[in-house]
Amino acid sequence: MSDTPSILFVCLGNICRSPMAEGAMRKLAELDKRDIQIDSAGTGSWHVGEAPDRRAQATALKHGVDISNLRARQVAPEDFHRFTHIVAMDRNNLSELRRMKPANATAELSLMLDHAGGPGGRDVADPYYGGAEGFVETWRDVMEGAAGLLAKL
Ligand code: 4NP
Repeated sequence: MSDTPSILFVCLGNICRSPMAEGAMRKLAELDKRDIQIDSAGTGSWHVGEAPDRRAQATALKHGVDISNLRARQVAPEDFHRFTHIVAMDRNNLSELRRMKPANATAELSLMLDHAGGPGGRDVADPYYGGAEGFVETWRDVMEGAAGLLAKL
């Protein structure tokens, strides 16, 4: 048994928000010299096996975080036992996770921006169909959520 926290970040496609959240948390954990298992996944299957969206990769890289080696995967039932925390990027994905959650699941489910302070229930907006500026906002949101979560672990 280990006390190492393990976090799964979840969005819809696992090519924009959740890989950016994974990269942000890896960076913060490294700076803080914290031993944390970090992964990401999507509730949807359309992009399984793909690298993060180019715009997500470019935005993270601007902040010194290389997420080019990540590959999209779909959330699996065993994730609810493998991870101590499963963090959804928006309320739709949180609802989907609650629907999928096995009865004996051990992972704690939460919403990313509920770790950031401010009003509860806010979504990390889906940047996929928008322009580059949406990804700037995504990076800011995932850094705030990741920093807040890290402080609680
Ligand atoms: P993500 O963004 O959930 O942040 O990875 C999306 C990526 C792809 C799609 C939707 C959202 N899609 O519909 O293909």
